Amino acid sequence: MNEQELMNVARRLVADDKGLLAMDESTSTCNKRFAKVGIPQDVDMRRAYRELLITTPFLGECISGTILYDETIRQQKKVGTPFVKVIMDGGMIPGIKVDTGAKDMAAFPGEKITEGLDGLRDRLKEYFEMGARFAKWRAVITIGFGIPSFGCIEANAQALARYAALCQEAGLVPVVEPEVLMTGDHSMERCRELTKDVLHAVFSHLCTQRVMLEGMILKANMVLPGRACAKQEAVSEVADATVKCLLQVVPPAVPGVAFLSGGQTCELASARLNAMNARSRSPLPWALAFSFARAIQQPALDIWKGNIHNVVAAQNALYHRAQCNKAARRGEYTAAMEETSTLAHA
Ligand code: 13P
Repeated sequence: MNEQELMNVARRLVADDKGLLAMDESTSTCNKRFAKVGIPQDVDMRRAYRELLITTPFLGECISGTILYDETIRQQKKVGTPFVKVIMDGGMIPGIKVDTGAKDMAAFPGEKITEGLDGLRDRLKEYFEMGARFAKWRAVITIGFGIPSFGCIEANAQALARYAALCQEAGLVPVVEPEVLMTGDHSMERCRELTKDVLHAVFSHLCTQRVMLEGMILKANMVLPGRACAKQEAVSEVADATVKCLLQVVPPAVPGVAFLSGGQTCELASARLNAMNARSRSPLPWALAFSFARAIQQPALDIWKGNIHNVVAAQNALYHRAQCNKAARRGEYTAAMEETSTLAHA
């Protein structure tokens, strides 16, 4: 493990007000999203869509790294250029999702455990040789009646820590993602308490497993009321609750927190990230960045619809969201930005 190199990559992932483009949907998740907008669910369409995303002009102005999936990291542009080369030529760092999914947890009804540790050392070695310099593992924590349990939080936190240690050994920066879901009718306060408990467990296990905190990124959920909760707090309240929670449990050695969007609308995800950065009076110990999938890709996917004639318009939509989120990192995002789209193909 080259500690300095890991620290450099981790810092680059959150430098210059940029963030990550999560485009690591598994084949089944990608197919489900295609089906919703009437796009054929086959390998050619998945390849074409990912080519559209990574060839968006000037994307590297706002995006520091892209998270790929096993199928995608092995693909090329139609003209034959490997995706990894396209991403690096665009000034971005290629990353890879390495967990094999959240599965039902034995003896814990309604809860999930993320799998993928078996054989991980060999897979990481291969991904490094292919050019990846960071990796992602997502744990899923569900809020419901009597859950999450201590057993579920502990098992997921330990798996995240073991994954992170293996990543650093292989020269890949681990993006550690314990996602507390926004599904349900729980209050924002309950989300705050549980997010704090989960992050506390995760950092405890990261330390036990000797993970170098300076060479990792935390991918966190924002502290939000459940989607079905009657009380939906204002943007400023979500921002303050999220920052307060992170300050209590995320060590300052971590260079950055990159939020997932989790099912929020594009505009709310940008506005909440913006408020966190705009409202923090004293400098925060870590960068607050983004690692969105749905909240950055969805408009592009809706416009593309699998039609080659819509590629430029879809790329403009992706670039626009990337610009909005870069502005949010500086606390300069405004609702007016949604009316004046910034064109990549001006
Ligand atoms: P969303 O932004 O759509 O929640 O996805 C982020 C992600 O990478 C989930 O693992």
